[in-house]
Amino acid sequence: MVVHASGPIVLIGAGNMGGAMLAGWLKSGISGADLLVIDPGPPAAMAKLIADSGARHETAAPAGLKAGVLFLAVKPQMMPAVLPPLKGLVGPETVVVSVAAGTTLSFMQSHLGDAAMVRAMPNTPAMIGRGVTGAFANGEVSSAQRDLVHNLLKVSGPVEWVETEADIDAVTAVSGSGPAYVFYLVECMAEAGRKAGLPADLAMRLARETVAGAGELLHQSPDDASRLRQNVTSPGGTTAAALNILMADDGMQPLFDKAIAAARKRAEELAG
Ligand SMILES: NC(=O)c1ccc[n+]([C@@H]2O[C@H](COP(=O)([O-])OP(=O)(O)OC[C@H]3O[C@@H](n4cnc5c(N)ncnc54)[C@H](OP(=O)(O)O)[C@@H]3O)[C@@H](O)[C@H]2O)c1
Repeated sequence: MVVHASGPIVLIGAGNMGGAMLAGWLKSGISGADLLVIDPGPPAAMAKLIADSGARHETAAPAGLKAGVLFLAVKPQMMPAVLPPLKGLVGPETVVVSVAAGTTLSFMQSHLGDAAMVRAMPNTPAMIGRGVTGAFANGEVSSAQRDLVHNLLKVSGPVEWVETEADIDAVTAVSGSGPAYVFYLVECMAEAGRKAGLPADLAMRLARETVAGAGELLHQSPDDASRLRQNVTSPGGTTAAALNILMADDGMQPLFDKAIAAARKRAEELAG
């Protein structure tokens, strides 16, 4: 990938998410020479990746440098301490990107000043390059900066831009927290299988591989989820019997409506 930025890509925090992004950037062809990683103590594997890539590593923000992209990947609770010393890295050409849940643009502006800023919400499958990211850009972000940020985010999977910052709370509720709902679905299917008479470990293996395989089929197929469901549902068959329960008025849809609304409300509360 060719990076057209007016300064280095500065990554703040090379933990789980920052490390996954860094690995993706290097894999996509970004040169280590274009990267500066600031982390007081990256995990050993990440320290090796940084050293092998030739990226510059610092434990604190160096003076006299303006970032092309300032990419924030620290825990939200670290933000009040992390942001103030970074202000010097932000110049007129800098775009700031944050993946921190619940950290608003106005909070970032209060520490970094009025700048081009993107708030992004990736999800855990980003660790294997199979995430999906929702992103919101403020009015200062130029189309060139937006393209650049899009290219940086897409190394972990598709990027979907939303129209308002508030939409990020809904993105968080659907895809940010979503992997946990799917993992819980596996747990529920396994437990129901155990109650249906299967050994618990066998039921878990069946449930796990079913969800993983169905996810992969969905990923590879041009058909949407509804079509794939209909394809495996014969009228009067076993799948139809189960779906009659799951799709009833008191089935999964009202449960998901409540769950997503609760997650969204919590995201709003965390954003303050
Ligand atoms: N993981 C996910 O699936 C996911 C999904 C969506 C969004 N996010 C967001 O991504 C962000 C990072 O999450 P994570 O799971 O990657 O956290 P993490 O693994 O704890 O990574 C944060 C990294 O930042 C380092 N750090 C601490 N203080 C710093 C400072 N002053 N300057 C620079 N680096 C510093 C940490 O070092 P120490 O360990 O030494 O403190 C750690 O290496 C969070 O805001 C989270 O909301 C994560």
